[in-house]
Amino acid sequence: MPANRAPAVTVPDFLRAKEEGRRLSMLTAYEFQWAALFDQAGVDGILVGDTLGMVVQGKATTLPVTLDEMIYHAEIVARAVKRALVVVDLPFLSYQASPRQAVENAGRVLKETQAAAVKLEGGRNQARTIQRLSDADIPVMAHVGMKPQSVRKLGRMAIVQRDEEQLLADARAAQESGAFSIVLELIPQQIAARITEELTIPTIGIGAGPHCDGQVLVSHDMLGLNPSFQPRFLKKYAQLYDVARSAVEQYVAEVHNGAFPDASHSHD
Ligand code: KIV
Repeated sequence: MPANRAPAVTVPDFLRAKEEGRRLSMLTAYEFQWAALFDQAGVDGILVGDTLGMVVQGKATTLPVTLDEMIYHAEIVARAVKRALVVVDLPFLSYQASPRQAVENAGRVLKETQAAAVKLEGGRNQARTIQRLSDADIPVMAHVGMKPQSVRKLGRMAIVQRDEEQLLADARAAQESGAFSIVLELIPQQIAARITEELTIPTIGIGAGPHCDGQVLVSHDMLGLNPSFQPRFLKKYAQLYDVARSAVEQYVAEVHNGAFPDASHSHD
């Protein structure tokens, strides 16, 4: 390892963080420059999320995203990342058909990218699949609560999930089947606190309050790239839409009025 480089974060490190009471920070990333920047800024984990479909491809849901698209972006992200744990979402219908389908597709993710783990949506309903992936030594992050891939069944995208016993049963099933970590999306903070207390694997919250072992946000959202997206759980740490828009407006004006390029930006 080159001097001064922090050691890479591993799956056992995620488990150790929980044992030692260290909180875990995660962000989504989809391409090289941002992934490198997030890594250099010290995030513990980078999720190549199937939110790719929405924030990068501009689609209404995550359902159309393909495994090949996930692998394309995951390979780019994992190549940019030197330290953080890279986790890749298995997209809709790349694992639901059977545990065998899941092993083959998750295997492709690990073989064709440098990612460390996959994420899938489900708890009890995916227990057999999580078990088979774990048996194949493919680390799995589970995802319970609001599951965006279930949007057609739920009717809309962002519904807070409040059935405490069902959520707890799903989280327990994911852990018992071998998941090394679990995302809790859009659930009341008291329920997230109970799940976090009961599980030995780290919980990573998004819209699940402050008691989780870690947090994940969609990077485009926390950087303020979409001014009209403001769910209650989202804290915007920057307003990049405003910054980028005024830069582009200034560029357009300067090209139109001849101020750019000036002598300092021209070759003799
Ligand atoms: O796809 C994604 O970005 C996710 C996060 C919202 C956790 O699953």
